[in-house]
Amino acid sequence: MLTLVPDAIEDYARSHSVADHPVRTWLREATYARMQVPQMLSGPLVGQTLKTLTALSGGRLAVEVGTFTGYASSWIAEGLTESGKLITCDVDAECTALGQEAWQKMGQDQQIELRLGPALETLADLSEPIDFVFIDADKANYANYFDLLLPKLRPGGVMVADNLLWSGNVLNPQAPSDHALAAFNEKVAADDRVEQVILSVRDGLNLIRKRS
Ligand SMILES: C[S@@+](CC[C@H](N)C(=O)[O-])C[C@H]1O[C@@H](n2cnc3c(N)ncnc32)[C@H](O)[C@@H]1O
Repeated sequence: MLTLVPDAIEDYARSHSVADHPVRTWLREATYARMQVPQMLSGPLVGQTLKTLTALSGGRLAVEVGTFTGYASSWIAEGLTESGKLITCDVDAECTALGQEAWQKMGQDQQIELRLGPALETLADLSEPIDFVFIDADKANYANYFDLLLPKLRPGGVMVADNLLWSGNVLNPQAPSDHALAAFNEKVAADDRVEQVILSVRDGLNLIRKRS
């Protein structure tokens, strides 16, 4: 991934924002040692951002689309209230097993429910109001995740979608994923039900708030 922010600035921001949990440090190392595309793991700056936004949004029910090795899930879970819950979805049982190991080590396994299968199917029946959503899975379906989950998000609730600068490729879309993400930003900007701001944290976070 192209680094959008100079390394020295990124390091300064990280060292003045985040002290990661030792288990998550282990999880990052294990992900890099064992997974084929470890760069999918979002990292500490995004993690702390997600935790803060989860807490600010109420922290009773959070949903994550795209678990991978459960790194961001662990941060989101830290932002929940004591009785709050995170539902996280993925299609890959192998990478999520590593996440489950980490959640257990951190005592978070009771707060995190993993749903294995295509997220559009495993989330279809969700009826409780959602406070916080993190979209970070297959790019072609971002618009479908938005359409499915926005009606389930409570008024004032927050949705964050990752990779919305896509290493700068949204400026001149070529590949199908470039087009899907550029179209997602256009779609959200044109939707009166929400207000949004694209934050240039890591690969770009589109921070979307459902109007009350
Ligand atoms: C970028 S990774 C998620 C990273 C994770 N959120 C983090 O920050 O550490 C994307 C994940 O989406 C999953 N995925 C792809 N298509 C999916 C689908 N249709 N439903 C659910 N998950 C899917 C992939 O298996 C992969 O683990």
